[in-house]
This record gives sequence, structure tokens and C-alpha cells, in this order.
Amino acid sequence: MPIPSPNLYPEFNTVRLSHVEFIVKDLAASRAFYVDTLGLQVSYEDKNAIYLRAMEERGHHCIVLKQGAEAVANVLGMKVYGEEDLDRAKSFFEKKGLPTEWVERPYQGRTLRTRDNFGIPLEFYHKMDRLPPIHQQYKLYKGVKPLRIDHFNCFSPDVDASVAFYSEMGFRVTEYTEDEESKKLWAAWLHRKGGVHDMAFTNGRGPRLHHTAFWVPTPLNIIDLLDLMSTTGYLKNIERGPGRHGISNAFFLYILDPDGHRIEIYCSDYQTVDPDLEPIKWDLKDPQRQTLWGAPAPKSWFEHGSLFAGTEVRDSSLSATPIIAP
Ligand SMILES: [Fe+2]
Repeated sequence: MPIPSPNLYPEFNTVRLSHVEFIVKDLAASRAFYVDTLGLQVSYEDKNAIYLRAMEERGHHCIVLKQGAEAVANVLGMKVYGEEDLDRAKSFFEKKGLPTEWVERPYQGRTLRTRDNFGIPLEFYHKMDRLPPIHQQYKLYKGVKPLRIDHFNCFSPDVDASVAFYSEMGFRVTEYTEDEESKKLWAAWLHRKGGVHDMAFTNGRGPRLHHTAFWVPTPLNIIDLLDLMSTTGYLKNIERGPGRHGISNAFFLYILDPDGHRIEIYCSDYQTVDPDLEPIKWDLKDPQRQTLWGAPAPKSWFEHGSLFAGTEVRDSSLSATPIIAP
């Protein structure tokens, strides 16, 4: 299917992705990974939960870790422009027959909890507690020096349907991969904030969260993180990279947290704010699609993902296969 035309005047206005909540089985182990190794800043913590932000972020949290029995992704958070957008969002999801409810969330104002067309748990808010800027507090920079959350990537059992749904919400496609035989989408990257993506979809059993990405200052921060992880007991947590993506042109590294939630360390994609930006099309069989330098991704990259809490998954009907490392 061709990608949909961008909806420049959606029913409600999403600013950007905002945060993710993970259930983790050992909060201390997750703290060692996210705080001591990656360098995220603690906004609040107690024995059951840790709220973290990255160095440029003024909002209270971009990632919430909660102690629990099963390692799942609880919810993906999005920020909207104003309070009225929350009411418009509620009506948008209700018209689609999707569940909506107002929920209490610490450090957030009015928060709308809902699900997308495949059941991905989403929450929208306008107000989050604001914290003093720390981006010039260089004494605080540690680990990979994470600056901000950048995007989510989710497995979808029907990427065309996911892209149609998020396009209606005003997300705009920047790049996409088509299966030449079926002419169906195999993957797509969509943005609200003016980078290559806030949300991406990859063909596969889903919905599941493939990864959450953090933007870092330079590729050298990624090299430093690899040196750190490979000498502090995290060798097996390094999954793919470092490398440069064909899609997005970004420099990347994929790592797994202690529960297997995948994190991408990411920098240097490009500006996409023009409303008439033409999406870039890639062929699934192009070896430079995944990695500009030609190295294919490992099998685990196409199979492993985090389940969303209380969400049923199903297989994709599209069986086209990408290039996989031997
Ligand atoms: Fe990514």
C-alpha cells in the first residue's frame, strides 16, 4: 500500500513522545544499568520505583522503572500541546471504539490512558512537573551522557494499519521500507517533533516494544559506553552495533537492560519539520538499509521485544524476510 498523505491538521496536537514505564524484576540491578552505567539522572526514587530524566530534559521523567514480577512495558507516554488537546484526544480514541480513561499519574497533570489500534497502551498528558535545567551541570554528566529520549520502535503485525492510524493522529512518515513483492510496508518511521521519528513500526509478532532510544551528543559517547559495558560485566548486554543506520542516517548502538528491555543509543539524525518533506523509500533487500556500512542485524533483533502489559500479541501475515546476520 502507498503511505498515507500527511495529516497536517490532526484532531489533537501531539508535541512528541515523552516517556516509557517498564516493570523490572530487580530494581537495584536496573538502577545500576540506567543510572550508574547509562548516566540517567534520578528525579525520584523509593523502594518500589525510580523516575529518571536525561540531561536536557526539563520534565520530571522520561523513564519510570517499577519493581514487579514480570518484565513488561506498561505504557508509552506522549505530550500534547494544551489541556484542550487531551479532550480532543479522548474523543478521537472514543470514536475509534478504543478504551479511554482519566488516570492519576505522579508528577503529571490530567492524563488520558488509552490504546492504539493494536492495543499498545498509550497515555497522553500536557503538564508534567518541571525541574531546574541541568544541561550545563557538566559535573553530573556520566556514562553515555544521555541528552533526551528520542523515539520508540514497536513490532506491529500490520505496519500499513499502524502507519494509517498514527498518520491520522498527525504523525508524518519520514522513511519507510516496502516489501517489493507484496507492496506492503515492512517498516516505517513517523515523527511529530521534527526528527526522523517519535515512533517507528517494524513488521513482526506484535504489538511489542522493540526499543526505546536516547539521543547522545556524539558517536564517541557510544564508543565510551562500549568500553565501559565491556569491562563492567555488561558484555552480554551489547546486542548490535555500533554502526550508522542507512535509514535515519543516525549513529547507533543497541543494548539490553537486565530484564531484556532493548535500549538504543542514538545520535545525528536530521531535521524533518517541513510539512512537504518527501518520505524516503527503502527496499527490504537493500543491504545498506539497516546499516550504511553493510553489516546485517543479528536474528535476535528481529525476534526479541518487550511485551506490553495486558496486551495480546499476534503474528504478522507478512512473511517477507530482511537480511539477517549468519
Ligand atoms: Fe531506533
